[in-house]
Amino acid sequence: MSDKTVFAIGSGKGGVGKTTTTVNLGTALAQTGERVAIVDTDLGMANLAGFVSLSTESTTLHDVLSGNASVSDATYPLTDNIVAVPSGTGLEEYAETSPEGLRDVVDELREKFSYVFLDVGAGVSHETVLPLGLADAVLVVSTPEPASVHDTKKTLELTDHARGNAGGLIITRTRSESNVSPEDIASRLGIPLVGSIPDDPAVRESLYAGTPLVVYDSQRPAAVAYKQLAADFSDIVSEIGTADGSADLRSEPAITGAGPDPDRSTSTEGGPERVSDTETDS
Ligand SMILES: Nc1ncnc2c1ncn2[C@@H]1O[C@H](COP(=O)(O)OP(=O)(O)OP(=O)(O)O)[C@@H](O)[C@H]1O
Ligand SMILES: [Mg+2]
Repeated sequence: MSDKTVFAIGSGKGGVGKTTTTVNLGTALAQTGERVAIVDTDLGMANLAGFVSLSTESTTLHDVLSGNASVSDATYPLTDNIVAVPSGTGLEEYAETSPEGLRDVVDELREKFSYVFLDVGAGVSHETVLPLGLADAVLVVSTPEPASVHDTKKTLELTDHARGNAGGLIITRTRSESNVSPEDIASRLGIPLVGSIPDDPAVRESLYAGTPLVVYDSQRPAAVAYKQLAADFSDIVSEIGTADGSADLRSEPAITGAGPDPDRSTSTEGGPERVSDTETDS
């Protein structure tokens, strides 16, 4: 059993697969028997509800943070072992929320679940910083695109700023023809690689179906990758350092096995701005 329960799923750039990762990693862990809660902490641009066919008309995290509902009022069972706490999508409700109350929400969920995943808004706003600091570890999500990798660096800085613990990197939408490996990106960012998820059109299909891909079609490449990540998760998590720095592995990939890329530049000077050989999505 891991000493870490609460994971923030963050990113610099938006649209890189945070919610997809939250939903599919959470569901895959639930399928292995873990009790999981997934929470939409992207208060301004909430979108987790649609991924799992929940209505945002009912009680949401916004109501909890504005003092009008309890956490259990905003907690909805999805399938076996997994619940979701969605956020509302209305700007009016959002205006009334007080993100500071999130700590209490997280503390309450921490007591009841083996894993709590916080789907964090992209960018650098106040409400983004807060969950990064509350989590036991932050998992940053990026595609291999240079812009996404570049913005990941900002999220890592923001995590430090929030006294959070940057636990690892998940690269999404990888392509076999790419000339940059997820290991390479992780080493350039100085953070362990915890997983990589292939680009897979089935992800979008499952979104339209309002069903996590690992349930919608568990044989598709991205589903297989999320299930593998879930299977390895407790081992990965035990290798991630804690916020007090008791095991700082930031320069060592948590997953090994993929040898060094012979083409990769060994210089990390200049940071991810130098990731000029990264693929683009065009
Ligand atoms: N592995 C993948 N393969 C193909 N498409 C993907 C993959 N992961 C995510 N996508 C697609 O990318 C889009 C963005 O994904 P998602 O909503 O999970 O990102 P996000 O980081 O939560 O975005 P936002 O910052 O807007 O909340 C979606 O249309 C999704 O279907
Ligand atoms: Mg999202």
